[in-house]
Amino acid sequence: MTRHLLEIDDLNPEELHQVLDRCTSAHPVHVLDGRGAALIFEKPNRTRNSTEMAVVELGGHPIYLTPDQVDIDGRESAEDVARTLACYHSVIAARVFDHTVLERMAGAVTIPVVNLLSDLSHPLQAIADLLTIRAEYGPDLAGRTMTWVGDYSNVARSLGFACAMQGMGVRFTCPDGYAPPAADLERMAELGAPWAEHDDDPADAGKGTHVLVTDAWYSMGQEAEKALRKPIFEPYRVDRAMLDQAEPDAIFLHCLPAHRGEEVTDEVLDGPQSRVWPEAQNRLAAARGALEWLVLASETDR
Ligand code: NVA
Repeated sequence: MTRHLLEIDDLNPEELHQVLDRCTSAHPVHVLDGRGAALIFEKPNRTRNSTEMAVVELGGHPIYLTPDQVDIDGRESAEDVARTLACYHSVIAARVFDHTVLERMAGAVTIPVVNLLSDLSHPLQAIADLLTIRAEYGPDLAGRTMTWVGDYSNVARSLGFACAMQGMGVRFTCPDGYAPPAADLERMAELGAPWAEHDDDPADAGKGTHVLVTDAWYSMGQEAEKALRKPIFEPYRVDRAMLDQAEPDAIFLHCLPAHRGEEVTDEVLDGPQSRVWPEAQNRLAAARGALEWLVLASETDR
């Protein structure tokens, strides 16, 4: 059966562990030897770099496609774009505005489709974050706490699901209107979180947490909301005082790019508890491990 990765819970907890193990393996299997990977980007990115290099490390050949080159649902439907690319490639990976475009592409082909960020989710970032958290606390993360502060973004959702699958408690300190939907918190509990909660009060957001995380106050495509959002999110900035409430060995994560002085201060981002650069480095390992697992799993089951 073809396996896709559109959200982290497309993997069960055991499969997620297998992916994490592949990410840290010193010996990647050349599953893409002599084969292509189509990488579609509807939004600007640095992810192109980690994904292209992951394909190269798996022996494959990445082809980078910009919106004007594919024009999904303009010149051709998402399904037909995917069908055409599947004639030449062994994987399609795409960064899109609308998550349903990924679902439609996945439904049309028998090669893996991988989400490189959509409006809903960012599973490869969540895998990179788990690698970073495991490097700090070891592979058994049950009972640890992840606290997300700010906007409940695509990154927040996937990380919440991923931490839940490790048995971590998850807390979201977000202003009303930018908080996790109840269904997502329920899903996190179902996935294994001992508790999953939302609180709109930033006063003691950092309290007792092991992993403190934030993201931009306005994501790609939301720039027009900047003036509206800034005053709402101002009290949710991650600063030294918030990090000081956390466990003494707590770490700070951010998917980057960071808006220094907005969602996080320089002092935290550049401070001793920040792990944002190992986290960025883990994006390559995450892409490589996930692609390797997906290609092998899809072909083994066929
Ligand atoms: N939430 C951000 C993440 C960027 C990696 C965005 O969607 O722009």
